[in-house]
Amino acid sequence: MDLLTRLLISLITQAALVEARDAWAGGHLWRVSQLARRLALDLKLPAPDVAQITLGALVHDLGKIGVAETILNKPTRLSDEEFDAMRAHPETGLAALVGHPLAHLVRESVLMHHETPDGTGYPQGLQGDALPLVARIVGLVDAFDAMTSTRSYRRQLGIEPALQAIEDNIDTQFDGGLARHFIKMARAGAFDDIAGHSEKGIAMQHCPTCGPIIAIPHKTRSGDVIACPACRTGFKVLGNANDWHLRPLPVHISARPLSVDHELVQCLAQEIRAQLDERVALGVV
Ligand SMILES: [Fe+2]
Repeated sequence: MDLLTRLLISLITQAALVEARDAWAGGHLWRVSQLARRLALDLKLPAPDVAQITLGALVHDLGKIGVAETILNKPTRLSDEEFDAMRAHPETGLAALVGHPLAHLVRESVLMHHETPDGTGYPQGLQGDALPLVARIVGLVDAFDAMTSTRSYRRQLGIEPALQAIEDNIDTQFDGGLARHFIKMARAGAFDDIAGHSEKGIAMQHCPTCGPIIAIPHKTRSGDVIACPACRTGFKVLGNANDWHLRPLPVHISARPLSVDHELVQCLAQEIRAQLDERVALGVV
């Protein structure tokens, strides 16, 4: 394993650690990165740009490491104070990246994914062309995933109502050209195997005991044991990938392993390496 691959894994592991603190996020980073990647590939962007967009989408919420779990998992509306703490996450993410040798690849998506074309986003209120393509793509697919996933404070929308909401906010919240392209792809079914899934081909499961998402890894076999990220109840997973069932066990499981998609990491390493000046990327920016 070369240095670039190791650095990618270190960055993605940080993002997985952050996601593990949010019991309702199960698979959010996977979905956002896959949606962004499919859109970037369909736009026929160069391979290094596709990699940067995929990686940026995977780590965009890194700054949520600074948001209390009580806020991340709150089942009711956030207070103004809590909302301010949540809105600090892009800048916290930027601070968390300081010194990481691959920071320059993800800085824009981490800092700017809540900026909007009309300048009403945060933290900087950037507008129009000041908003880089990677941030516009991550912002768009992040919003689509937020709408099509159940969270602690609201149930998920279907794909079509979410696309309608995007259409209603073209040129204000979303880049017009990108949003129209995304909607066209979505209506042709391009994202049907991503929306509502926690991993490729695995439909999202909710904890039968307390509600949050239980992401079942694709390597799971019938009889394996998995835990709810919130109540920690253990479940025996029965069936197959097309139709998993969760049977509660009289045990609580304190921790679960973080998973990194090594196939995707290899793919990103190859795409990035193609145009990388290793002294800049691995050394000393
Ligand atoms: Fe975010």
